[in-house]
Amino acid sequence: MAESPLPDEDRKREFVHSMFAGIAHRYDLLNSLLSARFDRRWRRFTAKACGLQDGMRALDICSGTGDLAFALSDNCPGATVIASDFVHEMLTIGASKSRRRGRGSYAPVLGDALDLPFADAEFDVVTVAFGIRNVANLKQGIAEMARVTRPGGRAVILEFTEPRSPVLRRAYMLYFTRVLPKLGNAISGSGHDAYSYLPASVLSFPAPDELATMMRECGLVNVRYHLKTGGIVAVHIGERASAAAADRRAA
Ligand SMILES: C[S@@+](CC[C@H](N)C(=O)[O-])C[C@H]1O[C@@H](n2cnc3c(N)ncnc32)[C@H](O)[C@@H]1O
Repeated sequence: MAESPLPDEDRKREFVHSMFAGIAHRYDLLNSLLSARFDRRWRRFTAKACGLQDGMRALDICSGTGDLAFALSDNCPGATVIASDFVHEMLTIGASKSRRRGRGSYAPVLGDALDLPFADAEFDVVTVAFGIRNVANLKQGIAEMARVTRPGGRAVILEFTEPRSPVLRRAYMLYFTRVLPKLGNAISGSGHDAYSYLPASVLSFPAPDELATMMRECGLVNVRYHLKTGGIVAVHIGERASAAAADRRAA
């Protein structure tokens, strides 16, 4: 029997870290190729859903090479945007892209999503795109996002999901489980089987309603989600409960 491309929780941090360090130099190319550039639209939609305003502070976790951080900054040039990731190579590429862009706020900070190096309630908006699926403990990752979001601020998650329409689902599964791993592994040349891990991690990720429930369990309220591109991705939005509301819920 073939070995599962999904590591268990204990090995996941190490596995994910070394995989992204290995593919960092090809990550942007593969993203655009394998998503037919839809990823840009999805990030733009996510940035708009954050409701950032001038003077606010946003944190993009698992920020990789910075594309959602840049979309946030383009959406609201007067906001401060911090980009955090635990892979130095990804942030280095993000920093050089930011220099080439020559506009907007982008401050890279090395940090683990499960133990963010930020104080409670430090940010108005906390985002993650295609990253929360990779953390070893999903609930802990969402709870960390909620912890660093100020009461009334937003936590926003962009993640792959499975399309609901049977026809689209069949075509998507064929592409996602057969074509994408072969293409991705060949182009990335990392030897990490990263693009076999990708579909396996998406297929084991909670469905949109389940993810919304988890967000509520982590102290987020007014949780809702939008499905995009026939349900290939979902954008979940939640607000950090005020301290008074959290006390009422706990009582
Ligand atoms: C699929 S990439 C997404 C990057 C970027 N957000 C985007 O939209 O292209 C996932 C990123 O999550 C980061 N990551 C995974 N687990 C992490 C963790 N526990 N702490 C911090 N970063 C993590 C990886 O290093 C990688 O850069």
